[in-house]
Amino acid sequence: MMPSLPEGYRALIIGSSGTIGSAFLELLQSDPRCSHAIGIHRQSSPAINYADEASIAIAAEALASSGPFHLIINAIGVLHTDTWSPEKKGADLCFGQLEAIFKINAFGPAVTLSKFSSLLAKANAIMAVISAKVGSIEDNRLGGWYSYRASKAALNMLLKTTAIELRRTQPNTKLIALHPGTVNSRLSKPFKGEQIGRPAIDAARDMLAVLNQLPLSESGSFYSYSGEKLPW
Ligand SMILES: NC(=O)c1ccc[n+]([C@@H]2O[C@H](COP(=O)([O-])OP(=O)(O)OC[C@H]3O[C@@H](n4cnc5c(N)ncnc54)[C@H](OP(=O)(O)O)[C@@H]3O)[C@@H](O)[C@H]2O)c1
Repeated sequence: MMPSLPEGYRALIIGSSGTIGSAFLELLQSDPRCSHAIGIHRQSSPAINYADEASIAIAAEALASSGPFHLIINAIGVLHTDTWSPEKKGADLCFGQLEAIFKINAFGPAVTLSKFSSLLAKANAIMAVISAKVGSIEDNRLGGWYSYRASKAALNMLLKTTAIELRRTQPNTKLIALHPGTVNSRLSKPFKGEQIGRPAIDAARDMLAVLNQLPLSESGSFYSYSGEKLPW
C-alpha cells in the first residue's frame, strides 16, 4: 500500500474512533510497509476534542516525538448531534446549529491542519481531510442540510488556502480534501446509511489509493474516493 511513500512510512489518523477513521487505521496497521500507524480521538491520550480548541495544539505537541509522519488523515466530522439534525429548510436555520457544526467540521479541522503540518516529513508527505461532496457549491442540486453543506464548503476553502501556504513552506506536502462516498456509519445511520452506504474499509482503501496516485501538483484539490476530481 502507498508505494508513493517511503518504505517504513509513519501514519497518523485523527478521529480514529469513528467508522471511517478506524477503517483507515486498520488498513495502515496491517500494511507491512508502514512502520508506525497510530490514531487519536476524543478519548485517546493525547486527546483531540473540538469542543476544546487548546486540545489541538496540546495533541500536536505531544505527538511531535512520534513523528515525522508521512501520512496524516483527519476523519473527524458530524452531520447530526444529540441536539441537531440537518436542516430541511431555511426556516430551521439558527446560530446554535451553525456554530456547533462549523466548529467540528471547519474550525477544528482547519486549526488541526495548521498545528499538525509541522509534524509532516519534509521530503515527502500527504495530509488529507475527509470533506463531503455535498459541500461542493457547484454540485448542490438538492439543497437542504444548510450547516453541514456550508461547513464542508468552508473546510474546503480553509484547506485550499493552507495548501497555497504549504506550497511555499513545505513544498513536498500533498494536501487533499476527500469525499468518501456514502459509507455505512454512525453519521449516515439516520439517513439510510445501512441500506445505501458501503463498508468503511472499502471507502478507506479507495481513498488511500487516490491519495497515493495524485501528483504533488494536485495539492489543494478536492477528490472523490473514485478518483474523480470534484468541483468546489
Ligand atoms: N459516512 C458517510 O456517508 C460520509 C459521507 C461523506 C462524508 N463523510 C465524512 O467522513 C468523516 C467521518 O465520518 P464517519 O462516517 O466515519 O462518522 P462517525 O463514525 O460518526 O465518526 C465521526 C468521528 O468524528 C469524531 N468527532 C465528533 N465530534 C467530535 C468533536 N467534537 N471533537 C473531536 N472529534 C469528534 C467522532 O469521535 P467520537 O468517537 O468521540 O464520537 C468520530 O471519531 C466526517 O468528516 C464526515 O463528514 C461521511
